[in-house]
Amino acid sequence: MSTPESGKPVYNVKNPFIAKVKKAYDLSGAGAPKNTRHYEIDLEGGELEYTPGDSLAVQPTNDPVLVDDTLKALGFTGDEIVKHPKTTLEVPIRQALIEATLITEIDNKLIKAIIEKTGGNTALAGLLEPEKKEELKKYLWGRFVIDLLLENPTAKFEPQEFMLTQKKLNIRLYSISSSQKAHPKEVHLTIATVKYTSHGRERSGVASTFLAERITVGETLIPVFVNHGKGFRLPEPQEETPVIMIGPGTGIAPFRAFLEERKATAARGKAWLFFGEVNEATCFFYKDEFEAYVADGTLAKLTTAWSRDQAEKIYVQHKLLENSAEIYAWLEQGAIVYVCGDASRMAVDVDKALHSIIEKEGGKTPEEAVAYMAAFKDAKRYRRDVY
Ligand SMILES: Cc1cc2nc3c(=O)[nH]c(=O)nc-3n(C[C@H](O)[C@H](O)[C@H](O)COP(=O)(O)OP(=O)(O)OC[C@H]3O[C@@H](n4cnc5c(N)ncnc54)[C@H](O)[C@@H]3O)c2cc1C
Ligand SMILES: NC(=O)c1ccc[n+]([C@@H]2O[C@H](COP(=O)([O-])OP(=O)(O)OC[C@H]3O[C@@H](n4cnc5c(N)ncnc54)[C@H](OP(=O)(O)O)[C@@H]3O)[C@@H](O)[C@H]2O)c1
Repeated sequence: MSTPESGKPVYNVKNPFIAKVKKAYDLSGAGAPKNTRHYEIDLEGGELEYTPGDSLAVQPTNDPVLVDDTLKALGFTGDEIVKHPKTTLEVPIRQALIEATLITEIDNKLIKAIIEKTGGNTALAGLLEPEKKEELKKYLWGRFVIDLLLENPTAKFEPQEFMLTQKKLNIRLYSISSSQKAHPKEVHLTIATVKYTSHGRERSGVASTFLAERITVGETLIPVFVNHGKGFRLPEPQEETPVIMIGPGTGIAPFRAFLEERKATAARGKAWLFFGEVNEATCFFYKDEFEAYVADGTLAKLTTAWSRDQAEKIYVQHKLLENSAEIYAWLEQGAIVYVCGDASRMAVDVDKALHSIIEKEGGKTPEEAVAYMAAFKDAKRYRRDVY
């Protein structure tokens, strides 16, 4: 598939670029409470193009150990032939489960089938009623398909019948953490490996653990394509617009790309990066690069917030508030504020901090601060990529 104008291939979910990781290493050090890793994906042999602010879609496969445990719970050998949910080719069920089903999430079709097969003699009974939505969500939190199978051993499935109760294993998105001007034949990612324990079983995120533990650098073939970001873009390099980048945790990813791009294009406006993680000693991702940007002027300011290096929590929004007069001055100079990372807590708190800064430094009422922020959003000067 290619575009008529450029003749270049168009990569998408149906026609992904098949890539290999050429380099991968830990960004978090020994003793860090979680593992965050840097990946460099080789684009040699393809014409995959991206812009800082884009994300990369990665198609993972499931953990074969979890697949084998799930097959055991089903009473299958793994050789039973079923339709591959994505290609509809006939394949052994083990292959179909590894490649194409979301066995780490539960579809209502599976719940319905278990209720029917157990004659309602199950903890799931009644949970599909509309008024039980929250109860169902709570029940399913931290449970995989295997949990429901083990909890309901009398519910027996035929192989194809089971396949029809499964969701499809889809792509995961990752903010691109490189600039193609600095790495023409590579795309970099910054990924936290998702691990937790629930209901007495150790669990792993599908894609983050696929990349961290199940690929072989230089060998494993990984389907990828670029998801072009709409609003998350830098100003033109010749513009004087200041940029404020707020990216704790893996939210740092697009800002590493922004800074590489700004250095490569000798961008004129001043830039301020806020980064936060748990400990300075174990989690100062890309420390040397960011300090070099301060030294060469690519970054006017670098401000860090280490949440667990002292008794009280210090987060990026606390650092924004500490610097409120200067932040407000930058806003008044037309700065664009970018926020990336956790949507549910961090982005909400950063938003509150910005309102407080506008009230305090601009001498505004809460209502006027809301109006200031609304105008700021309308002018596309508040750009968020949160997940
Ligand atoms: C635009 C965009 C950009 C992104 N960029 C990045 C990035 O740069 N870096 C990055 O690391 N991630 C990024 N993400 C998140 C990423 O897409 C994946 O969601 C993430 O890696 C988890 O995927 P996974 O397949 O490893 O985990 P999954 O298999 O999807 O598992 C994650 C799920 O596990 C469950 N879960 C997690 N913790 C617990 C717990 N303690 N108890 C019970 N259940 C739990 C939750 O339901 C959670 O949704 C981005 C997301 C979006 C939408
Ligand atoms: N959808 C998914 O499946 C998925 C998967 C992975 C990540 N995520 C999201 O992406 C986020 C990023 O994960 P991450 O591992 O990169 O880092 P993170 O969990 O966001 O942690 C990064 C830093 O932010 C701090 N923090 C916690 N609460 C905060 C708040 N309210 N305001 C500001 N900072 C806060 C953390 O401190 P403390 O930890 O010390 O409190 C830590 O120092 C996760 O929180 C999660 O919401 C989603």
